[in-house]
Amino acid sequence: MTDLHDQATAMTSDWPDDAADLARRHRESLFPSVGLFYDEPIELRRGEGQFVYDSAGNQYLDFFGGIATVSSGYAIPEINEPIKAQLDRIPHTSTLFLIRSQIELAERLRAMTPPRLNKVFFTNSGTEANEAAFLITTLNRNSNELVALRHSYHGRSFATTNASQTPWRASTLSPLHVHYVGNPYCYRCPWEKTYPDCGLLCARDVEAVIRTTTSGQPAGFIAEPIQGVGGFITPPPEYFVMVKEILDRYGIPFISDEVQTAWGRIGVADWGFQAYGVEPDVVVFAKGLANGIPIGGVIATDELASSIRSLSLSTFGGNPIATTAAMANLNFIATHNLRENALQVGGYLIDRLRELTERHPAIGDVRGMGLMIAIELVRDRATKEPAPDILGRVMEETKRRGLIIGRGGLHANVIRLCPPLIVTERDADDAVRILDEAFASAAAAG
Ligand SMILES: Cc1ncc(COP(=O)(O)O)c(C=O)c1O
Repeated sequence: MTDLHDQATAMTSDWPDDAADLARRHRESLFPSVGLFYDEPIELRRGEGQFVYDSAGNQYLDFFGGIATVSSGYAIPEINEPIKAQLDRIPHTSTLFLIRSQIELAERLRAMTPPRLNKVFFTNSGTEANEAAFLITTLNRNSNELVALRHSYHGRSFATTNASQTPWRASTLSPLHVHYVGNPYCYRCPWEKTYPDCGLLCARDVEAVIRTTTSGQPAGFIAEPIQGVGGFITPPPEYFVMVKEILDRYGIPFISDEVQTAWGRIGVADWGFQAYGVEPDVVVFAKGLANGIPIGGVIATDELASSIRSLSLSTFGGNPIATTAAMANLNFIATHNLRENALQVGGYLIDRLRELTERHPAIGDVRGMGLMIAIELVRDRATKEPAPDILGRVMEETKRRGLIIGRGGLHANVIRLCPPLIVTERDADDAVRILDEAFASAAAAG
């Protein structure tokens, strides 16, 4: 097989004319709320393995994976061939007909989750999946109250924006009533305490919020095991065990939003809830399941799934192409031990990134699990003042050097690294070298 590391083209410094024109047309025709990366946005036309190529043919090592979605890499024959074959056989039938791949996938997901979670509903995105979770929990509990974490992100729709952090909080007009708990953000503890002496006030706050701000019977508690858009905020190991004990005492369902943390990305387990040793009542999934083909859904207990007493369907949810892609992707992840790879390469990468901390004062925190790693940038380590401008320059410098990274956090000051799970230690070395140079250039330019 050709080694794509040796094929890196020299970066052209000019913004390709057609990309400039596309950016203009994007601004002209799309909602202004849909932002783009970079001063000079690029079109990624092609991908191969862990590499992507822009319209000028420049090669980039992709450490963002389409926002933690391309879990097995680009142009993988074992995944793409079954998708193409399904497309040629029949692309769509609707959920009013039996869909073999949908049923097989539901069985597979049940086998991957605790036995109590035995009913699946498929959607096309994470937002819709969270909507489904809100529907069943609010119906079941006859409550429009939800407990969520600060710095969370659960989607872009009318209800889910209401359960998401600024600046993604487009609307709070939905009748969903969300009560916020201080989140397990050790680097910026809401109580300015230090772990473990803090006694996990963040977990205990769940009980305080239930007792002081809800009717006492909220529909559910929703959390991402690692807060994704919030900046890969990684709770301490005992956090969810403590929270679950509180939820159980009040009989409140736990919705685990695994949209970013599933399918082996975090290395130690298939799911985030497993890494934290708890069992949720609803699991929400999307993003990386079908390696870039749109899919989402929920897995719930019988009781919660049966809360919908009217008819319900999703025209495209569980569509033959999406579910065929998902099965092929799960097979690829399993046969190539990609979860184990995420654990090994992710461990190596986080150690190497922590070494960069010595050289670059803008690095305030390095955190994460497996191949879900964040670097939080600050102007000054003592004050922890967020440095989104430095990150803006680092983004431009990494792009110039052929590395794609992601961005997140309340203040847009967190680098998010979530490459396809096939990356190697050599890729990690390349990414660290480029980040090292980019930090140096960004500091010089500041
Ligand atoms: C944890 C989490 N939940 C839900 C969503 C919404 O998913 P989608 O963009 O597929 O609607 C996202 C998207 O980033 C997410 O990270």
